[in-house]
Amino acid sequence: MSGLSSAQRDSLIAAAREASSGAYAPYSNFHVGAALLLADGTVVTGANVENASYGLSLCAETVAVAKLMSDGKRGGLIAVAVVGGRPAASGEATPGADPVSPCGRCRQVLNEIAQLGGTDPAVLCIGANDVVETTLAALLPLAFGPASLG
Ligand code: THU
Repeated sequence: MSGLSSAQRDSLIAAAREASSGAYAPYSNFHVGAALLLADGTVVTGANVENASYGLSLCAETVAVAKLMSDGKRGGLIAVAVVGGRPAASGEATPGADPVSPCGRCRQVLNEIAQLGGTDPAVLCIGANDVVETTLAALLPLAFGPASLG
């Protein structure tokens, strides 16, 4: 288990859910929300942004990392929450029984800021009935990152 308090955990999960209502996903109709928690308490969210040229679509986690890093943040990532599913009327994702976990590309994108700050963030994958908690290192073992370039 991570060192997150249950209040931090609950508010990060709520932030990811809320973020999913901002998804632009007319092609997949699959809304994803991500919320990143920094050690200083900052929470940054993202939602997936699709494109008519399907392969150019951006995942929620990648959007959140881009927001964070373009604000000048270079570390301190301690937790990530992700939710995905068909949108309810509110636009929020309705998670299925199997929680969504970050795709391979997003794991690598998350690793950049994690490795820059020397953290191994908790990853909370939100499902309909439970939240599966893991870590980025477990999802991306032997990661290639900034340190690999020497
Ligand atoms: N998606 C994410 O936003 N994050 C992931 O980690 C997995 C997939 C998005 C991409 C696409 O817009 C939709 O989910 C269906 O694949």
